[in-house]
Amino acid sequence: MDRDIRTVDDVLRLLDGLFAPDADRWTGDAAGWWDGFYADRSRPVPFFVAKPDENLAEWVERGIVTGRRALDLGCGPGRNALYLAARGFEVDAVDLSAEAIAWGRERARTAGADVRFVHGDAFGEAGARLTGPYDLVHDSGCFHHLPPHRRISYLALVERVLAPGGHLVLTCFAAGSMGCELSDAELYRDGRLHGGLAYTPGSLRRIFAELTEVELRRMRDEPEESPYFGKAFLWAGLFRREAAVRPGGKGKDAAVPAGAAVASVREPGGDGAVRRSKCRQAAASVPSAGLRCRPLGGASTSWEEAGPRCLPRPGAGWSPWPAVSSGWVVLTSLIGRNSPRQP
Ligand SMILES: C[S@@+](CC[C@H](N)C(=O)[O-])C[C@H]1O[C@@H](n2cnc3c(N)ncnc32)[C@H](O)[C@@H]1O
Repeated sequence: MDRDIRTVDDVLRLLDGLFAPDADRWTGDAAGWWDGFYADRSRPVPFFVAKPDENLAEWVERGIVTGRRALDLGCGPGRNALYLAARGFEVDAVDLSAEAIAWGRERARTAGADVRFVHGDAFGEAGARLTGPYDLVHDSGCFHHLPPHRRISYLALVERVLAPGGHLVLTCFAAGSMGCELSDAELYRDGRLHGGLAYTPGSLRRIFAELTEVELRRMRDEPEESPYFGKAFLWAGLFRREAAVRPGGKGKDAAVPAGAAVASVREPGGDGAVRRSKCRQAAASVPSAGLRCRPLGGASTSWEEAGPRCLPRPGAGWSPWPAVSSGWVVLTSLIGRNSPRQP
């Protein structure tokens, strides 16, 4: 007889055990399965290519995803981790499979890239080595291999390591195109995930409700000759963690309204204090297509204006504002947390 359940972790481990052992793709015990999966590098597995996801590249190159530190969660052989390192991020990349990590390290050596690979279960002991805070948590294809109860571990990891103002970039199976569509309860009755779970936009919005949705779209199919990887059976989601809100205050002490997306502006060669003129220049170059700006209701301030604009960034001393140490930053959008979503 066992009476071992005492903590949430105990419950999560018990639920892991309700799945057939050979269906496990997410615990430390699944490492061997993934090692076998990566053993033959010449197999025609779409994501064995050494190219970054097209959505990640788009959001980084458009200056929407910025910052210094990134975590690639379930990095496999590190194609996205290497891309992020090449774009100047300090990258930690974690995976269950020693084989994938070895392949990633080889790729990094060949490319002269500096990536800190971490081997192990991101939701177990290896997670403790992922201290963050990260400006970007990136996951291409790991989340959909988790059983329903491990979403709790996933959200806890994101909550712990993602910096306020940072982004989560997620690609996962799109319902109707790829992945298992059994209900959560049916998965436990079956004891299998059937190759990975399909998600709808509604389910993703519910699961990541604590984050602000910046964009949720299908990944674009990329042709073979493209420098990017893209498969339209995947969702590509960009979510942002709210920057800390400082209540009250005006001008340099102003709070960032809930739902505001703040992009950083860097002044090359400057002292870190970005001038307003520089900020205006940057704001003018931020594409406004796709921005979802709307009145925040009740709060009648100039924040309600649509489109990118400048706002003063307080001097150093408080808050996890992006990159620049003082001066001005670009406010790229306002998304009222409680407002109805736009289609
Ligand atoms: C579909 S592969 C994607 C690999 C890589 N992101 C890519 O797109 O090339 C999913 C990866 O998630 C990893 N994974 C699954 N559960 C994990 C966990 N608990 N901790 C760390 N990695 C995990 C697997 O080892 C596998 O390499």
